[in-house]
Amino acid sequence: MAWQLDEIAWTAFDARKVSADVVRIAKAACLVEHNGGDYGTYLSNVFFDDPDFGRVARGWAEEEVNHGRVLRRWVELADPAFDFEDAFRRFTAKVKVPLEADRSVRGSRCGELIARCVVEVGTSSMYSALHDSTDEPVFREICKRIAADEFRHYKLFYDHMKRYRELERPMLVERVWVGVRRLIEAEDDELAYAYYCANGIREPYQRRAVGRVYARQTFSRYRQKHIELGAAMVLKAMGLKPQTWYGRALGRVLTWLAGIKAAQAAARVQPA
Ligand SMILES: [Fe+2]
Ligand SMILES: [Fe+2]
Repeated sequence: MAWQLDEIAWTAFDARKVSADVVRIAKAACLVEHNGGDYGTYLSNVFFDDPDFGRVARGWAEEEVNHGRVLRRWVELADPAFDFEDAFRRFTAKVKVPLEADRSVRGSRCGELIARCVVEVGTSSMYSALHDSTDEPVFREICKRIAADEFRHYKLFYDHMKRYRELERPMLVERVWVGVRRLIEAEDDELAYAYYCANGIREPYQRRAVGRVYARQTFSRYRQKHIELGAAMVLKAMGLKPQTWYGRALGRVLTWLAGIKAAQAAARVQPA
């Protein structure tokens, strides 16, 4: 593990600079990160005859759970009433990782690794955007450290993906489809449901409504630099060269769509 919870300068915590929206997002992220252990088991099963990657996957999962632990500590400083155990129990009662699978739900190992890269694009950009839009010093330090890990995770999955791309030789259209599908799934309810459980919302779960609130509070923080870097990383994961006409075209489409989403989210943020 690159760093530990006790390396954070916790004494610098400044309650006056805590924003309620950031606490809500951090609570949701804390639940999703804690679920990293199950994703590590799933990846070890899918890559059962690749012990090198198995070791990498277990190390990766430990780092994700570490992110969850650190976020939990910060949330408990910001909101001592946060009941992590109850929120995590509600979350994992519904969100299940396919632990029994012995092959990737993405159809191939290369596809699995492209999807993992896309997830790391999502996390690296989100923690970067959170870092850039927050004043609380401890949370900024946490986001900076976590974002650095998420960029490194992308690189780690990318390197193994290239190896499997050589072995499995999936067609370009398959690689693009896996990446696009994972991007679309980022809209699915795992994050929204984590937000719902973590924030103790007791009325029945309404995916679209909670998803809109979550999107408003996170995507409104994205700036052009986060979007452009994320789009370039997604293209690279799909094996598209940004200098080809189709690489440029898809890059523009991704940047354009993400830009619209961020602008819509920002427009819905209520002035404080
Ligand atoms: Fe993480
Ligand atoms: Fe990660």
